[in-house]
Order: sequence, then C-alpha cells, then structure tokens
Amino acid sequence: VNNNIRIAIDGPAAAGKSTVARKIAERLSIVYIDTGAMYRALTLKALQNNVNIEDEQSLIHLLKKTTIQLKQTDHGQIVYLDHKDVSSDIRTQAVSNAVSIVAKHRLIREEMVDRQRKLADNINVVMDGRDVGTHILPMAEVKIFLIASVEERALRRHKENISKGFSSDLDQLKQEIIKRDERDSKRASSPLVQADDAIAIDTTSLSIEEVVEKILKEVSQFHQ
Ligand code: CDP
Ligand code: CDP
Repeated sequence: VNNNIRIAIDGPAAAGKSTVARKIAERLSIVYIDTGAMYRALTLKALQNNVNIEDEQSLIHLLKKTTIQLKQTDHGQIVYLDHKDVSSDIRTQAVSNAVSIVAKHRLIREEMVDRQRKLADNINVVMDGRDVGTHILPMAEVKIFLIASVEERALRRHKENISKGFSSDLDQLKQEIIKRDERDSKRASSPLVQADDAIAIDTTSLSIEEVVEKILKEVSQFHQ
C-alpha cells in the first residue's frame, strides 16, 4: 500500500508550474523536484561541449557520464551539474531555445524518467514538468495541468527578465514560447499533453496564491 502523496504539475512554458510547485512543497513540507531543470542541465553541458543536440547517440553518451543533482535550500533550489552549481547558467536564453530539442530524443527521455522516478521513490513529492502525470508518475494522487494564455505567459517571463536587469523583447519571448510548446507537444516520445485524470487550471487571471490554494484544496481530499 502506498501512503505517499504525489502531486504532478504539468503544462506549457511559463504557466507558473515551478513557482507554484515550490510553494506547495513549502506549505506541505514535502520534496520538490523540477524535472525541467534536469533537461536544462544536460542541454547546458551539451552546448558547453559542442555536442550536436540533434544527435541522440552523442547526447545519451554524454548523459550517461553526467551527474545532475537538485538540492532544496531556504533560498530556493540549487541545480548541480557534475557537482558544480549551474542554477543560473541553465536559465539563459541559449539553453531555453535548445532544451526542447535535447528533450525530444527517446533515449534521453527514458534515462531522465528513470532518474526522476528514483528521486521520487517512496516519498511525498511535488514534481513539475511536461510528462509527470502521463509518464513519470502515472499513479500520482493529484494531477494538475496548468495553462495560461500565451500573451500572459510571455508577459510573465518578460517581467522576470526586467526584474533581473536583463534585456527583454516581449514579442520575441512570445515567439520562442510558441515554438517550444509546439516542439514539446508534437514530439513522438511522451509529449506535453493533459492526462485524462488531470485537473486543468487556467491561471491567466489568477494570482500565485490563488493557484496554490486551488491545488491545496485538491490535495486535502487525499491527505489529512
Ligand atoms: O520553466 P520552463 O517552462 O521554461 O521550462 P522547464 O520546466 O524548465 O523545462 C524546459 C524544457 O525541458 C521544456 O520546454 C521541455 O522541452 C523539457 N522538459 C521535458 O521535456 N519534460 C519534462 N518533464 C520537463 C521539461
Ligand atoms: O515553471 P513555469 O515555466 O511553468 O513557470 P514559472 O517559472 O513558475 O514562471 C511563472 C512566472 O509567472 C513567475 O515569474 C511567477 O511569479 C509568475 N506568475 C505565476 O507563476 N503564477 C501566476 N498565477 C501569476 C504569475
């Protein structure tokens, strides 16, 4: 019998998955696993080593000798690539634009899903990504599919860039988000798709707190 609570949060880019997942992990004192950060870390390493990201064999060879660790601290999540902190390096535009190409390869996905399942084995967890509810944790107790209009999602990323002091072009961001969502949705191997038993939440006009409350309400039905 499994007494754990597993919360799967999927959805397109910048729908608010990681922000909301982190807050839920805090509120419930459970582990947060950012599966996208793992694909980003591999992408960063591939770019640094001039590995052709269209070449599945080269990428799987690279991944097999790569250590990716996620650590939660009071200041947020730290991502380690081969024991080096790459938390901010994996958020660059170059990585964002390449990551969905790396993530389309079947062998890469199988290895990542394998690692992600091990991280979540027999613990209470909230995991966010694209295929959590459909592939990584198909038996998750709570499955959420977060959506928001592409205009709102581009605006959220734009505001984030501005607040970090980065230059940012709203229309370009929108085009990049559309392109990435399309790649993620159309790939053959575990594409971005809402699980049949997932609850869709449109966050376009909701605050972060409102989204968190809605999800916690779903969780409370499974957990007391
Ligand atoms: O936070 P953001 O929406 O920008 O993306 P992310 O969650 O960091 O994920 C980056 C990319 O990794 C996605 O666009 C997907 O191509 C890939 N990904 C995936 O294929 N499967 C997952 N479970 C998580 C991410
Ligand atoms: O992980 P994902 O790519 O889905 O989104 P994120 O990295 O959490 O980024 C979402 C951005 O939108 C963050 O800057 C949040 O502060 C903001 N936001 C949100 O997440 N949810 C809302 N309901 C409103 C704003």
